[in-house]
Amino acid sequence: MPNTLIVGNWKMHNTISQAETLIRDIIALYQPHPTVELMVAPPYITLQTAANLLKTTSITLAAQNVCAKDEGAFTGEVSPPMLKELGCQSVIIGHSERRHLFGETDESINEKIRAALHHGLQPIFCVGERLEEREADQTHSVIQHQLQTGLARLEGKDLDNITIAYEPVWAIGTGKAATVEQATEVHAAIRAMLATHWDIDPGQIRIIYGGSVTADNAQALFQSPHINGALIGKACLNSESFVKIAQIATLDS
Ligand code: 13P
Repeated sequence: MPNTLIVGNWKMHNTISQAETLIRDIIALYQPHPTVELMVAPPYITLQTAANLLKTTSITLAAQNVCAKDEGAFTGEVSPPMLKELGCQSVIIGHSERRHLFGETDESINEKIRAALHHGLQPIFCVGERLEEREADQTHSVIQHQLQTGLARLEGKDLDNITIAYEPVWAIGTGKAATVEQATEVHAAIRAMLATHWDIDPGQIRIIYGGSVTADNAQALFQSPHINGALIGKACLNSESFVKIAQIATLDS
């Protein structure tokens, strides 16, 4: 079983001073656990502050996006080596907000995943269907396409360094989380698709769930053996609810 991963995706929240307060509060509340990894993904400009504060803790750091290029004339972009040197261990790639608001495609996501891996950053690769796709019974085909294209030209061993985040678009920021049955069903399907494609042990693939996770629904979700953690938006902006979700994860790991 992979370690449980609890990631706080801050999205575009918190200035540098606010980030400092939130990180300090998280550090003060959090009791580390050997099989649970706690990670924060603050905005680019607060990463350095977070990195300095987290240096002496077990809490790890992720960026919310990355450019596929190493350097060059790419105004406004941030490269994998920049994130690596800063102390990021991981990077969220293919979040539905990046796909739907900023036009990222499965192909550009694949470039980013390969670039991140090349530079020793562990991608948290987000997939998920929209409501109309679920209602049209297309959930599996949509996710299969996202996985096939997003993970193209990778080898089975690369999966050791990738976390898949299943984030149904209809559950993000809506307060309507997937039920444990819905999430388990899709996680099991993702596991089977990847294990078949690369002939790898399905139990070793880390698949976390995201979409309206709270301290109230986390326990039910984490009881599913297919759910290896959570990618949290709103509830990670409050240190108490974020750390509480991590503590709930320790009960089932
Ligand atoms: P919410 O937890 O606010 O629904 O956001 C989920 C998400 O998009 C995490 O990446």
